[in-house]
Amino acid sequence: MQKELLQKFYEMYGEEGDIRSYFAPGRVNLIGEHTDYNGGHVFPCALTIGTYGIARKREDRKIRFYSANFSKLGVIETSLDDLVPSEKAGWTNYPKGVMWTFEKRGYKLTSGVDFLIWGNIPNGSGLSSSASLEVLTGVMLRDMFGFSEITMQDLALIGQYSENNFNGMNCGIMDQFASAMGKKDCAIFLDTSNLNFEYAPVKLPDAKIVITNSKVKHSLVGSAYNDRRNECERALKDLQKVVEIHTLGDLTEEAFEAHKDAITDPVCRLRAKHAVYENQRTIQAVAALKDNKIEEFGQLMNASHVSLRDDYEVSCEEIDILVDLAWKIPGVIGSRITGGGFGGCTVSIVKNEAVDTFIDVIGREYKEKVGHEAEFYVVEIGDGAGKLA
Ligand code: GLA
Repeated sequence: MQKELLQKFYEMYGEEGDIRSYFAPGRVNLIGEHTDYNGGHVFPCALTIGTYGIARKREDRKIRFYSANFSKLGVIETSLDDLVPSEKAGWTNYPKGVMWTFEKRGYKLTSGVDFLIWGNIPNGSGLSSSASLEVLTGVMLRDMFGFSEITMQDLALIGQYSENNFNGMNCGIMDQFASAMGKKDCAIFLDTSNLNFEYAPVKLPDAKIVITNSKVKHSLVGSAYNDRRNECERALKDLQKVVEIHTLGDLTEEAFEAHKDAITDPVCRLRAKHAVYENQRTIQAVAALKDNKIEEFGQLMNASHVSLRDDYEVSCEEIDILVDLAWKIPGVIGSRITGGGFGGCTVSIVKNEAVDTFIDVIGREYKEKVGHEAEFYVVEIGDGAGKLA
């Protein structure tokens, strides 16, 4: 792929100079959903699909962007003096946001760049194509401008900051962290209250991780996401009147049950319940995985779905159909919605011998019920972002 992209780069921008290549992966979260802005735990892993970038420094302050995914848009030109978000800037708002954040943190970009990207994360699937583009841009800038003091973890934080403050999506740290810090065949058990983390090997000799793309994306994604955050914050404020906590992640299920009546709004109470229980489920699930108790891990994934569907209300009809179908198939260890919600993908752990049936049966029945096809990806867990040789 890299070769073809280099070829394309030469075609668009010419062959001369110091041209470098980078990659940043997308992610799938196994469990721990909507906990990352509640001081809870998450358990994502990096995928082997993601975004590739080829770049070269310029002599002037111009920035030229080209996406091989949106070739019709051609080269989009801007400058280091024009790092402001705009609707018409489309996808370039993500790399621009990262450049803006670098400058804001005192990492001066001394010249513009020519940048070409291409990604193989299905668009709008909820597998973090935007986080991967942010982390890719960060890795590229760090390398091109020699900011060796910036760590991969910093790049995750820079990506999140730019997403929050430049692109107006109030996301947590999970996606950028997974893209920057991923490790082959491991999921990342991350405590979002302090960014302590641990790599947990995902050894599944008898099973595969299968992602099913519902191919729907409901329009409320951004606003509903921010609503959920606000509801959790309100619940926290109420709870803090009766119990000393910093985040919802500080509560056990028992402590939540003991204090939940302090949350005055019933909807906020439900949201907080999810955040607390999901965090505890994630801790349990990682312990189960370490003990090789895959069935238990699967049960916790299923419980996570129920909670996201009923208490957090971020699922949708199409996703529930996919999960219900999956739960009926023998050999499915666990299945749930993954990512922000309101469409996107499910993640399932499926025994090797059941994978074909899974894809056949769900493929057929989903099409019958919903009217369009789902897409299936049997995925591998890959490494985090970096420079390519
Ligand atoms: C989106 C956000 C993440 C996280 C998930 C839900 O992917 O970007 O920060 O909150 O939703 O778990």
